Amino acid sequence: MSDNFITIALSKGRIFKETIPLLKAAGIEPLDDPETSRKLILDTTRDDVKIVIIRATDVPTYVQYGAADMGVTGKDVLAEHGGEGLYELLDLHIAQCKLMVAGFADKPLPEGRVKVATKFVNCARKYFAEQGRQAEIIKLYGSMELAPIVGLADCIVDVVDTGNTLRANGLVPLENMFEVSSRMVVNRASMKMRNATIKSMLAHIAKAVEAGK
Ligand code: ATP
Ligand code: PRP
Repeated sequence: MSDNFITIALSKGRIFKETIPLLKAAGIEPLDDPETSRKLILDTTRDDVKIVIIRATDVPTYVQYGAADMGVTGKDVLAEHGGEGLYELLDLHIAQCKLMVAGFADKPLPEGRVKVATKFVNCARKYFAEQGRQAEIIKLYGSMELAPIVGLADCIVDVVDTGNTLRANGLVPLENMFEVSSRMVVNRASMKMRNATIKSMLAHIAKAVEAGK
């Protein structure tokens, strides 16, 4: 946290692309493009706002510890992190998808212990536990779809949008865990210290979200 400016944490790719038009409504436009620049701290058209570029899964951690005042993160990543130390203040209705259990169409999941490959280990553990189902959670960092094919797991837990990735690997969605969209999160201390600035920023962004619906 700085006394002089507010820091917004964004990840490259779809979140950056879809958040930029919303930030524009609050007069915030980055002066560099993270897809072409190697810079991790971007100045913006507002002297009091900077954007930091970090991995999507790191956004809640930066905001939790106040290394960024605010950030944009998927509900999937936020649920996995747990949300300590931050407020989830606005649904931006961008990067929409679903967190799902996926597997083979012709192979029902075992009645007993289910082997689940995922990078969302906390979400998967909670989901199966709440249903009283036994699960062995296998942590992976990517290419989850491969796990059932090679016999590492019975199913996966991953985000699904069009279903193309599943289809391309002979898998189908089996169970819908929850709807995902990106959220604006704010550090708790920043919300107190910079209340007026952050509230006004959020009001402009909320208007842009409504207009885009
Ligand atoms: P990391 O770089 O930390 O591994 P990532 O590669 O998952 O993260 P992105 O692919 O940019 O990062 O995804 C960011 C967020 O966008 C996800 O957390 C999720 O909420 C959402 N998302 C992921 N895949 C899709 C998709 N195919 N369609 C729509 N939204 C998606
Ligand atoms: C994500 C996610 C899935 C895929 C789901 O990956 O990890 O593999 O999207 O989307 P779908 O149901 O539309 O196939 P990634 O960010 O690599 O996807 P992208 O190719 O859409 O960027």
